[in-house]
Amino acid sequence: MRTQFNIPATIIVGAGSSKEAGAQARRLGVKSALLVTDSYMVSSGLAGRVADSMRGEGVKVTIYADVQPDPTDLNVMEGLEMLRENRCGMVVGLGGGSPMDCAKAISVMSANPAPISLYAGLHKVPSKGVPIITIPTTAGTGAEVTKVVVIGDTARNVKMMILDLNLMADVALVDYELTMTCPPQLTANVGVDTLVHAVEAYISVKASPMTDPYALSSIRHVSENLLIAYNEPDNAKAREGMTLASLQAGIAFPNSSVCLVHGMSRPVGALYHVPHGLSNAVLFPAVTEFSIRGAPGRYATISRAMGYATDGDTDDAANEKLIAGLNRLNADLKIPHLGDVCKVDLSVFDENVQKMAEDSLASGSPGNNPVVPTAEQIVDLYHRAW
Ligand SMILES: NC(=O)c1ccc[n+]([C@@H]2O[C@H](COP(=O)([O-])OP(=O)(O)OC[C@H]3O[C@@H](n4cnc5c(N)ncnc54)[C@H](O)[C@@H]3O)[C@@H](O)[C@H]2O)c1
Ligand SMILES: [Fe+2]
Repeated sequence: MRTQFNIPATIIVGAGSSKEAGAQARRLGVKSALLVTDSYMVSSGLAGRVADSMRGEGVKVTIYADVQPDPTDLNVMEGLEMLRENRCGMVVGLGGGSPMDCAKAISVMSANPAPISLYAGLHKVPSKGVPIITIPTTAGTGAEVTKVVVIGDTARNVKMMILDLNLMADVALVDYELTMTCPPQLTANVGVDTLVHAVEAYISVKASPMTDPYALSSIRHVSENLLIAYNEPDNAKAREGMTLASLQAGIAFPNSSVCLVHGMSRPVGALYHVPHGLSNAVLFPAVTEFSIRGAPGRYATISRAMGYATDGDTDDAANEKLIAGLNRLNADLKIPHLGDVCKVDLSVFDENVQKMAEDSLASGSPGNNPVVPTAEQIVDLYHRAW
């Protein structure tokens, strides 16, 4: 099988690496940058610290801090206007996946005609925009190293997935110290998102020898660190481990693919405004149970990498332990059920569920799953996760 593998040209990992933004901007020949972030980053002082360090290197900084969680096309256009008004020659995305995705989308829109919905899907962005630096503060989406953004289309009330090399950051600065302030439930939600990225990259029909090592390493880091980071927010070693897990899953999944969990979680997020990581987490055990028969050997390897099974277990035994382990992990992280996060009666959910199943299939992600479901099976899986 022929595969393509893309990552940013420069990835700087480790404590303090976020202070490199100014030097990296200068290296790229940029004198003026748009710092794309959210209100928490401003109130916590982090945006100011990154802006100051860039100004110290002689780079002019304009701050766009109105990115909302799960950003929309309106956020992108607002940021683009500021970029143009202030003649910024680059974007810096500072925050969780939302500000980083917004920054990457602003870059694309700096060089291509609106609306952004023209580019939904795979490889449809004609031109590269201004350079991009990404600085993650959650561990996480991996958006710092992915050629993917998820942007809400306000006209159609759907989440658009856009995948294109022109969305790849030029520089990713991965500084675990920025994640130390994440509260436990955010740590849990985004941590399971990381695990789903790694697992889906590994069981996807598009998995390759270039992505498998990153996916398995990410799974091991999650297994060793997620519960500790959740229970002990100040544990720097666990935060560092989760940051590496997120980065490595972010390297694996766009070069392989995400699968059914992400396919089913996007409609949940779009309709019920459930945070991305949480909508994945509530679906993960049921979808895994459904998918195992398509790749039993690979799922058994995951179970061993998670420490749920040992080399002495048969694949079947390892896969039983995997399902039990993932349900226990959700319980330990206080992740509720689908019904709790949608906050509607099942009868109301059922009015939308057929369309959700069709939107899920239309996204293409379920087509990469080791078992490709029908719309009816997707409806059944939503009910099992309820
Ligand atoms: N591009 C990709 O490859 C990719 C992959 C997965 C998810 N996503 C997208 O990423 C978005 C979700 O990103 P996310 O889960 O990282 O969350 P987020 O960026 O939406 O942030 C969620 C909340 O956490 C806060 N926060 C962020 N960092 C913090 C910190 N260090 N301390 C305290 N609070 C902090 C934010 O201010 C915000 O209120 C979704 O839009 C999702 O679709 C993108
Ligand atoms: Fe995700």
